[in-house]
Amino acid sequence: MPAPRLVIAPPPAPPPSPFTPTTPPLPFPAGPDRSPWARWRRHFERTAARPIPRTGDRVDLPPARAAALASSLARFQVGETGEGRIVGAVSRARMRGVDDDYRHALALFIAEEGRHARILAGIVRGLGGELLATSWTARLFARVRRLAGIRFKVLAMFAAEVVSIGFYAALAAALPAGGARVALEQIARDEQAHLRFHRDFFRIQAPRGWRRAAFLAGWIPLAHAAVLLVLWDHRRALRTLGIPTRPLATRLFAVIAEGAR
Ligand SMILES: [Fe+2]
Ligand SMILES: [Fe+2]
Repeated sequence: MPAPRLVIAPPPAPPPSPFTPTTPPLPFPAGPDRSPWARWRRHFERTAARPIPRTGDRVDLPPARAAALASSLARFQVGETGEGRIVGAVSRARMRGVDDDYRHALALFIAEEGRHARILAGIVRGLGGELLATSWTARLFARVRRLAGIRFKVLAMFAAEVVSIGFYAALAAALPAGGARVALEQIARDEQAHLRFHRDFFRIQAPRGWRRAAFLAGWIPLAHAAVLLVLWDHRRALRTLGIPTRPLATRLFAVIAEGAR
């Protein structure tokens, strides 16, 4: 049977929402494709070349709002690290549609999550908050990632992208105009690209039939569980910042549906 061919469509226009960043995602760089993953490799090479945004300056906010934002972002900061082992696992595995371009893109994707951790650390410091060594949600996500094989690890990272997209955009809107807000909006745009990167992986791994059904049977409950868990974990910060939970949940559920397409 010939290998299914991946068609990477241009990103759909995001629905109007207060949680959607105002700047559109970066377009894919043009060029000849060696494989479906060549475009992703070039995308991550290009985003890796960006300078780290300036953060760490004091963010002017009322103390209660600054503390709520710092505690929320510190928990996300912990979650942005610690996924590196999957690069080695994928490099040793033989899987359909996985080639050197994918392996390279995956390593750059992991590095980009590390970049997010550095940027978030600067924002947390600017808010007067303290960084965390770990958090119970980060430990839980790490444990879930280790439950099964490589596909499940990617599925767990895929679910984390849904949460990141909605939360970073919502938290950025709670920041005053300035470097920290611009940096967080940039991270939210990166996460949208990450969602499409993982979605393309499952379009190749599970294009149709029982494979697709198995993917959806894992994706839908796992992503919903991740969203509900993080909404609950950050409920106090959301309340303090005046971010209504229901529209945020609606936006996150729409992102889950986008991931299933
Ligand atoms: Fe990230
Ligand atoms: Fe991400």
